[in-house]
Amino acid sequence: MSEISLSGISKFYGTFCAVRNVDLKVAQGELVTILGPSGSGKSTLLGLIAGLTTPSEGIISFGSRDVTHLPSRERNVGLVFQSYALFPHMTVFQNIAFPLKVRNYATLQIQAAVTKALQSVRLEHLSDRKPSQLSGGQQQRVALARGFVFEPDILLLDEPLGALDRKLREEVQVELRDLQRNLGITTVLVTHDQEEALSMSDRVMVLDQGEIRQIGTPEEVYLKPANSFVAGFLGTANVLSGTVRNLGGDWTMRLAKGLEVPCGPPPGPDQDVHCTMIIRPENLRLCSPDGHGPTGQVRDAIYLGQTTKHVVESEIGLIVSVGPSHERRSVGENVKLTWNRAATWFV
Ligand SMILES: Nc1ncnc2c1ncn2[C@@H]1O[C@H](COP(=O)(O)OP(=O)(O)OP(=O)(O)O)[C@@H](O)[C@H]1O
Ligand SMILES: [Mg+2]
Repeated sequence: MSEISLSGISKFYGTFCAVRNVDLKVAQGELVTILGPSGSGKSTLLGLIAGLTTPSEGIISFGSRDVTHLPSRERNVGLVFQSYALFPHMTVFQNIAFPLKVRNYATLQIQAAVTKALQSVRLEHLSDRKPSQLSGGQQQRVALARGFVFEPDILLLDEPLGALDRKLREEVQVELRDLQRNLGITTVLVTHDQEEALSMSDRVMVLDQGEIRQIGTPEEVYLKPANSFVAGFLGTANVLSGTVRNLGGDWTMRLAKGLEVPCGPPPGPDQDVHCTMIIRPENLRLCSPDGHGPTGQVRDAIYLGQTTKHVVESEIGLIVSVGPSHERRSVGENVKLTWNRAATWFV
């Protein structure tokens, strides 16, 4: 069994708390991403699962086995870091064979396992090259192969694609996801890239200042963020605050300037309560100034190829992002902002 369970895990460095009271279960075969800003405790948490450091408080189990005080080498985890740290003097084959040699595999076993790993990352043809003769993406794939060649129960990846350019990164993301699914290996991936987290994970754990802010599926954390930190960290969120009430069956939010705007039903049963809601840019629409809705003026139109993203200064008291959408407006144009009630979310 390679289910991971963290219970009440904290890590202190002196009096500084890098990870605070984290509870997490990662199911067999699941891919969970730890997402958070720099310094939020992602690598510390991964290091705790790997056994590179021990927690100040709490229990870590793999299946029914308590591994809290077990050294890393006895945990059977594959580790891949951002700096792939391949051995420069060894060939690709030798690099991937290294964890097997350390574990005293027989030569024939090594041959078979490395060949299989090379096929998984589609590098069979480069097995005799040295790392310096490979592209960044190829080196990254060698590091990955080295991470899982010994069939670890658990794969731990700390920003493994950080050094790759966007296009290559997206390619390796897909490959990594396929590989992880095919091997059925329980995986924890650290990233600070929200798109990577959303596109690759079964579930995302959002970490801030060592504390979990939310754990959920990509859809949950993006569409139903638990708080404004998660809302803002996972993409752009237009935030509106005001008093929410029911006007003849339709919910509206009364903003500071007295403007009434549409919203969904509030989280609690009470009326006339002060609430904060978010609207994602892609749920906002621009229409002509004779339409209905708050007025605004286009401040910027950011061309993204197929689509355009607009920045609008509006009477709802803020600069909002709209799109990307296929419509295109000019800077200075007067517009109205509209949105669907169902697309609002309270935080
Ligand atoms: N050995 C250590 N001693 C003291 N403080 C540490 C130690 N290791 C990490 N920290 C602190 O713990 C906090 C979390 O560090 P960590 O490396 O886990 O962050 P991170 O989320 O991985 O950040 P990044 O995205 O920059 O890699 C930071 O404030 C860091 O300075
Ligand atoms: Mg880190």
